[in-house]
Amino acid sequence: MSDSSLPAPTALPAADRPDVAARLRDALLGASFTADGLLELLGAPAYAALARSETVPALRATRGDTPLELLVRLFLLQQPVPAARVADVLPVPECLEAGWLTRVGGDELAATVDVRPYGGLDGEDWFIVSDLGCAVGGAGGIGSREEGVVLGVGGASTTLAGITVRTPVGSALDLGTGSGIQALHASRHATRVTATDVNPRALHITALTLALSGAPAADLRQGSLFGPVRDDETFDLIVSNPPFVISPGARLTYRDGGMGGDDLCRTLVQQAGERLNEGGFAQFLANWQHVEGEDWQDRLRSWVPRGCDAWIVQREVQDVTQYAELWLRDAGDHRGDPAEYQVRYDAWLEEFEARKVKAVGFGWITLRRTGSAVPSVIAEEWPHPVEQPLGDTVRAHFARLDYLRDHDDAALLDGHFRLVGEIVQEQVGLPGAEDPEHVVLRQQRGMRRATTVDTVGAGFAGVCDGTLSAGRILDAIAQLVGEDPALLRDRTPAQIRLLVEQGFLEPAH
Ligand SMILES: C[S@@+](CC[C@H](N)C(=O)[O-])C[C@H]1O[C@@H](n2cnc3c(N)ncnc32)[C@H](O)[C@@H]1O
Repeated sequence: MSDSSLPAPTALPAADRPDVAARLRDALLGASFTADGLLELLGAPAYAALARSETVPALRATRGDTPLELLVRLFLLQQPVPAARVADVLPVPECLEAGWLTRVGGDELAATVDVRPYGGLDGEDWFIVSDLGCAVGGAGGIGSREEGVVLGVGGASTTLAGITVRTPVGSALDLGTGSGIQALHASRHATRVTATDVNPRALHITALTLALSGAPAADLRQGSLFGPVRDDETFDLIVSNPPFVISPGARLTYRDGGMGGDDLCRTLVQQAGERLNEGGFAQFLANWQHVEGEDWQDRLRSWVPRGCDAWIVQREVQDVTQYAELWLRDAGDHRGDPAEYQVRYDAWLEEFEARKVKAVGFGWITLRRTGSAVPSVIAEEWPHPVEQPLGDTVRAHFARLDYLRDHDDAALLDGHFRLVGEIVQEQVGLPGAEDPEHVVLRQQRGMRRATTVDTVGAGFAGVCDGTLSAGRILDAIAQLVGEDPALLRDRTPAQIRLLVEQGFLEPAH
């Protein structure tokens, strides 16, 4: 649905001039145009305001004449800057020739794309390229733009980057690469990175992001979902922050996949299984419908392909009105004609009503290919704050599932366990009561889970330092509390299993 009244997208810098990208990169780094440099220059409030698409505080903080202020105005705030001043900081003739800069008026230069400094997980100084006005703050007011606009880094992008398992692998696929942020992360630990997108402009921008960040080029392929992947091709890692928005009709390529309801996310999950190598991970952000009369967990479990373990975490649920408003605002519709806003809002609710959708869940779906005859599929709700990056936590979750699958209760009692670091115990009960009503174990790291245990569970966890087997610890506790050891051995494995599954205890090898 292209609208001829929309502004035409600007011409992009040449993707086949890595020499110019390298010179530009050196110049940007030389002026401290980095994530740290930006935060220091703007200060936390103005920096945070940018993430809300509010540029006034940043404009006020960059009224000076230093090279860094100049670059922020040029590449993040879409301000024309006097050519003579730019020449002191950037290789202007090359940047003009390769299309990173353009002349406006007689003696001013403007950027053709946004460039946002972005710090990698290991402190790398990277740059994310996106369409003008899209580097920060997601898409507030994007509705007045061309449908193929390419956004920069949003909250969803960094969430996926944070939860991705970062073990070294041979091959990684970033499906729906957009600005290339996930491909850029993957380039650090995957020998070969393939990045796909339906939008050719996104692939062009991904090439620029990688070149400007000094990362190896990726194998860029245009097409929908797994279409660009050859039949015989499989990957060690698949990541996708897909266009997951459930909407009454496709409008913006970056968020609307063009399939009805949550079919795009379901298709992605279902088709990922056969694209994964044994032991490989597929990690997705997704939205899913809560349909009247259906259990959301059962619905999501039914998506999991054969031969894969899965961990599905629902982080948030919104009712249909909140959901419609969120995406109407994302498109800037709330700033337009009120009558049109009403029509759009109504269309959204009509769509949900027709599909019997009551609410929409937001969350993470991780698959791991195991080929196990007994797949482990966990669908849970965890809306509380977590500690990013979570990649190691995700990897360890699946390793513990392997352990539990391989150990029946007798083997579990022969096993040795260690209490994971930085777990605290909280006792909950009425003020002044002698004994707590219940005991809570709380993780300070990773998923930051809390779980209620009985006094045996708490005592057991406290003793676990890997020295004694679980059975020996239970025998000692039985003696202490005057309980039959056989009965205790019988009833406790379920609790130990839960503590291992949730990452409070880990097998001590
Ligand atoms: C939400 S953006 C994610 C961009 C980037 N990977 C990130 O994490 O920020 C979704 C991307 O998927 C692309 N896309 C939309 N429909 C697609 C489809 N059917 N197949 C593959 N990519 C698609 C869009 O063009 C957009 O670049």
